[in-house]
Amino acid sequence: MRFRLITTSVAIFLLAASAIGASAQDGKETHLVIDRADPIAGLAAQASTGRTALEFEPDHGFLRALLQYLSIDTHTQILVFSKTSLQDKWIGPSAPRAIYFNDRVAVGAVQNSSVLEIMAPASMGYVFYTLENKSAGSPRFTKHEGADCGRCHGADNLEPGLIVASTPVTRDGTPVFIPSQRPPRLFEFTDHTTPVGERWGGWYVTGSHAGQPHLGNGAFTYDDAGRPQIQNADAFSVTDLSGYFDTSRYLEPTSDIVALMVFEHQAKMTNMLLAAGVMARRTNHIAAAAVEDIVAYMLFADEAPLIGPVSGGEAFQSAFAGSGQRDLKRRSLRDFDLRTRLFKYPLSYMIYSPVFESLPPFAKQAIYARLLDILEGRDMPPRFARLSSEDRRNIMEILRATKPDFGAAN
Ligand code: HEC
Repeated sequence: MRFRLITTSVAIFLLAASAIGASAQDGKETHLVIDRADPIAGLAAQASTGRTALEFEPDHGFLRALLQYLSIDTHTQILVFSKTSLQDKWIGPSAPRAIYFNDRVAVGAVQNSSVLEIMAPASMGYVFYTLENKSAGSPRFTKHEGADCGRCHGADNLEPGLIVASTPVTRDGTPVFIPSQRPPRLFEFTDHTTPVGERWGGWYVTGSHAGQPHLGNGAFTYDDAGRPQIQNADAFSVTDLSGYFDTSRYLEPTSDIVALMVFEHQAKMTNMLLAAGVMARRTNHIAAAAVEDIVAYMLFADEAPLIGPVSGGEAFQSAFAGSGQRDLKRRSLRDFDLRTRLFKYPLSYMIYSPVFESLPPFAKQAIYARLLDILEGRDMPPRFARLSSEDRRNIMEILRATKPDFGAAN
């Protein structure tokens, strides 16, 4: 399953959808059986009976308290100014939308908006919530189903799921169709396989990839024919965004380059694992091709190589790496490399995440078995060639020490 290109019809759908985006706030509240894998359900239920108090701040409303409750570090903040999502009338280069995340939940916050947006994988697909963010008092969550959020994130709550994309934009953040592309496209999904130079159109980026060009920070705008015009030649090593917009209105002044790279990896990984889990539960089967794709992505087989060192903020890196399981040698799958690749030990830390843990046991075993084939060098298709024997040994040792069911399976 690949969702690299958004085709014209989807793009038009997106644009039309965004015009009526505000109506999502009036979406139906649902009272379905609570999905235990839904990380928001308990909080929403408690809030509805007044049993949960979240602190309301004048500047950010419930945002900080919500992130704290969900154990999401504020340094995960990444900022997107393309008018691509719900509430796009509020979003633009002077008021980017902020996204915060951990391995479980993503939260979107838009300046001047009356709601916070929340999205997380659960048992049978993504769950979507908004939290009213206008005034203090009991937090009011609304669960959204169907087209409210699904018209862009996947009407069946599955595909494409979490979205990270590079969008060519005009000066005010409006997406540009690129007519030279067949089919014309609005934006392109990005993940760790995308060359860094093709990432981050429509995003702010603090930090640098060895000063190499990328599409972030409004480096290029596009004319009506979709021709790129260099607008900001200083875009590639930005540490201070205050020249672009009022950073004091955000929890952090950053849109950290490493946080962006991590979320890009994670969004696609989450989408793949969730789709595989739902299919496996429906059919009692997981296809070998799906296992192969998952294992290749987990092992960063097709990762776009870094051209030089990536420098981002210390705060994100220490928060992210600090929360990882470590073996006796203090190694963790969350340790960064940032010289030739994203991670030091290239196996996705998402192997510890709820979306991985909730795969049916037979699906997990199939993934473990294939992982083991590769890690033990029994089968080394060319796409895994970049994993050295030392990489494979390190990963294996870390897994055996930190993932009891992997150790038990082998
Ligand atoms: C018009 C299309 C559209 C609709 C409708 C929409 N979203 Fe999104 N959403 C996006 C896009 C595109 C992104 C990726 C970031 C960006 O470009 O702003 C995104 C990103 C997000 C994120 C951050 C995680 C991620 O996937 O990058 C959250 C959380 C989110 N949306 C929640 C919601 C919720 C909740 C709803 C329904 C109330 C909703 N969205 C409706 C288009 C949409």
